[in-house]
Amino acid sequence: MNGSAYMQGHDASTLASHRTRSAEKQADYLLPRITATSRILDVGCGPGTITCDFAKLASQGEVIGVDYSETAVGSAQAEAEERGITNVKFRTGTAHKLPFDDETFDIVHCHAVLVHIPDVPAALKEMRRVCKTGGYVAAGEPDWETCIVHPYDPRLERWIEVHRELKRRENVEPRCGRYLGSWALEAGFAQDKITVACDVLHYFGAEQVRWWGELYSKRMQTEVGERALKYGVATAEEVEQFATAYLRWSQTEGALWAMTRMKLLAEK
Ligand SMILES: C[S@@+](CC[C@H](N)C(=O)[O-])C[C@H]1O[C@@H](n2cnc3c(N)ncnc32)[C@H](O)[C@@H]1O
Repeated sequence: MNGSAYMQGHDASTLASHRTRSAEKQADYLLPRITATSRILDVGCGPGTITCDFAKLASQGEVIGVDYSETAVGSAQAEAEERGITNVKFRTGTAHKLPFDDETFDIVHCHAVLVHIPDVPAALKEMRRVCKTGGYVAAGEPDWETCIVHPYDPRLERWIEVHRELKRRENVEPRCGRYLGSWALEAGFAQDKITVACDVLHYFGAEQVRWWGELYSKRMQTEVGERALKYGVATAEEVEQFATAYLRWSQTEGALWAMTRMKLLAEK
């Protein structure tokens, strides 16, 4: 048990989708806290593009990316090598048991990780433990109950319900974003040291819509669909319909997909 209910898998298309991410886009709220000498931990680093961006900013500091998946760690190492970044390291590890001493990092960050794991307050407590006093724990996580899919398609609306049910079966909170402030309090942060900001993750325009729709259509035919069947939250016929509906949506002019993302910044 690695304390995760991560269901996107680590195949090439999923890692490629995460590889489009950057510190500038996904961790904008954190950038003013990063200095040239910061020691930063990126939990659930995936293919490491955000982590490598941190290492560039903390050019005289040290950055470590941790992920429970060896495939993700391998991909992140390749990313750092390709970019010629030498002050970043990657290793396997799980969010609930970080392989570091207390008070090690100036910043402990994660993006799109807490929405995949059970018992988030325990994970935030662990992130707080390895953070220095005066340092920051930062998390950017979506809230799936704010999801807007246009144009309306009953199959995609049904998928959002199935997704919610699937996450709950795995003791994971799909509305993660809205809980971040409360969970930070539970993890031991003081109310006046916590801020939560929001932005909207969205896909619009032929290229973005095609990419997102095709990605989800494929996920239906692989790990996500398999998990829906495993937990009995959808029938095989429905899973097939979800895949077809995403593909159709991906080819629709004027289509939009949007979801609120909350950004927690908590000072220890
Ligand atoms: C959606 S991806 C996000 C990757 C990266 N943070 C980004 O935004 O590009 C989630 C990552 O968290 C990792 N993960 C899931 N559960 C984890 C856990 N309990 N401990 C460590 N990593 C975990 C997965 O392997 C995956 O690489």
